[in-house]
Amino acid sequence: MHRILAHATPRNVVVWSVLDTELAARAALRPAPLSIVDVGGGTGGMAVPLAEAGHHVTVVDTSPNALAGLTRRATEAGVADRITALQGDADDLAQVVPADGADLVLCHNVLEMVDDPDRATRSIAAVTRPGGAVSVLVANRASAVLARALGGHLRLAREILDDPDGRAGTRDTLSRRFELSGITGLVEAAGLAVEQVHGVRVLADLVPGGSDTEGATADALRDFELATAARLPYRDIASQLHLLARRPVTED
Ligand SMILES: C[S@@+](CC[C@H](N)C(=O)[O-])C[C@H]1O[C@@H](n2cnc3c(N)ncnc32)[C@H](O)[C@@H]1O
Repeated sequence: MHRILAHATPRNVVVWSVLDTELAARAALRPAPLSIVDVGGGTGGMAVPLAEAGHHVTVVDTSPNALAGLTRRATEAGVADRITALQGDADDLAQVVPADGADLVLCHNVLEMVDDPDRATRSIAAVTRPGGAVSVLVANRASAVLARALGGHLRLAREILDDPDGRAGTRDTLSRRFELSGITGLVEAAGLAVEQVHGVRVLADLVPGGSDTEGATADALRDFELATAARLPYRDIASQLHLLARRPVTED
């Protein structure tokens, strides 16, 4: 298996860094392919590199179109035999994935849109094996408020600030945005222990062209993201919040 961090962009370097460390720690204990579930994994932005690293990845997504895109991408990358695409709902993973089986469960950019985030998080915990890890990435309300205000959209900024779910009206594409206390509480209520919290895209969305940079600028931006991800106050104004949590081996 090879490490995948080398391919990370400024926007995803922090998440890959956390996952790379988790995968390396697991490989040091037992060097075997892991069983990974990517909930709402879409077209395989995470699943394909993880399969290329030798792991078995099951992507559960409600969208047949996303799953068709995933299958095409997995075939092109030569890892179709290590990726399983299943249509299913985050709220009820037990319908499609065995309980207590996954070494790692990803839920990235999905809790903002599910019907019931509490139910989805419990469903994620239930398919994680005791001792396994859960990687959760969500939109940060504070960043959305600042970004709208800095863009001159004060009314929208105020709506996101005041709305109980951090939504900008009914035309908002997301059902909710999170504050750190909210997402931490959700994950802990599902019986998972939060081990790490990072801010993702502290600067990548602020620097002009930050998401498309290459070469030395991209290297500098990647370094900056890694340097600020766990530091206050930078962590708390990042576009997204990332939590690495673990299902306890023994539960009360
Ligand atoms: C914003 S995309 C994120 C894709 C990928 N996780 C990423 O971070 O790039 C959200 C994905 O979640 C899927 N989705 C939305 N609601 C879902 C649900 N209730 N259960 C499972 N997947 C869902 C969508 O079809 C879409 O593929």
